[in-house]
Amino acid sequence: MIVLGIESSCDETAAAVLTDGRRLLASVVASQDAIHAPYGGVVPELASRRHLEVIAPVVDQTLREAKVGLADLDGIAVTQGPGLVGSLLVGCSVAKSLAWVHRTPLVGVNHLEGHIYAAFLEGDPPIHPFLALVVSGGHTALYLAREPRRYERIGQTRDDAAGEAFDKVSKLLGLGYPGGPAIERIARTGDPRAIAFPTANMSDGGSDFSFSGIKTAVSLHVRREGPLDPARVADVAASFQATAVKMLVRKTVKAALRFGVHRLVLTGGVAANTALRESLESECRERGWVLHVPSRRLCTDNAAMIAAAGHDRLEAGERAPLSLNAVPDLALA
Ligand code: KG4
Ligand code: ZN
Repeated sequence: MIVLGIESSCDETAAAVLTDGRRLLASVVASQDAIHAPYGGVVPELASRRHLEVIAPVVDQTLREAKVGLADLDGIAVTQGPGLVGSLLVGCSVAKSLAWVHRTPLVGVNHLEGHIYAAFLEGDPPIHPFLALVVSGGHTALYLAREPRRYERIGQTRDDAAGEAFDKVSKLLGLGYPGGPAIERIARTGDPRAIAFPTANMSDGGSDFSFSGIKTAVSLHVRREGPLDPARVADVAASFQATAVKMLVRKTVKAALRFGVHRLVLTGGVAANTALRESLESECRERGWVLHVPSRRLCTDNAAMIAAAGHDRLEAGERAPLSLNAVPDLALA
């Protein structure tokens, strides 16, 4: 089965062609980072306009690189949500048009399920049941996948997403957008123990996350200490990163113990972070658990993961009508 995946939920315009659910023939990602960088975050109106400009060339290039024509496609998978409505609409409209022209089966994919499917594209695919930590710019949540295509959300952020916290702290430190890679880069030269930022502890002991406290703590620190020299900026970045990683890893391990699940998936843009990857890897290694972490290019937004999730849904007989619409707050569980 040859599936074309289309992703445009936020600020990446992406397309990919996948065969047999695992073999990637082409994957193209057009990043809008440079457009949003001056604003320190994604500007929805600029994002949707840019998607409009580049989506046709991106799909064209992907098909050319994959050496397949539109008529060869057995299915089209498109991100239906969650995401920015204007951005989602561009991908959905293009996917529906292509599906209509060639009578190609169409399926809508949840972006978060896409992130989880990134783990199915390399190495041994995860076996159910597994616990997935999805950490991105818009979401931070723990999903229990007991069986294929069914998810139970057992924890989520009560305020900011982890990636959002990286982006906001980066802005505070004058490090630019996107914040995650910028913080990770400068943190290499800093001392992660320099500043003791608070970790959020849920009073009910549950599996939810919270990142607004640490963001405020960084903001207060920067205000109190005045203009920071580069070495101090590196210390703040390293200390923030270490605390954020600690919070994510601790909650994930606790949830795995609680549900007796010893197979984990770490995915989403923030999963590109080396400190997070290494920390969760070491926790899993110590306990003899299996951890699946997609390579970095598959952690951040891409369409290969959407094609992979779409492939499974198409194979299970799922079809979306041409009335398929973008759902900005589409839930996974
Ligand atoms: O999954 P993604 O590409 O888009 C969303 O679905 O949101 O995630 C983007 C987020 C941004 O907040 C970005 O700062 C963060 O992932 N990110 C990172 C790293 N690379 C990207 N955060 C920490 N360390 C990184 N290396
Ligand atoms: Zn994403």
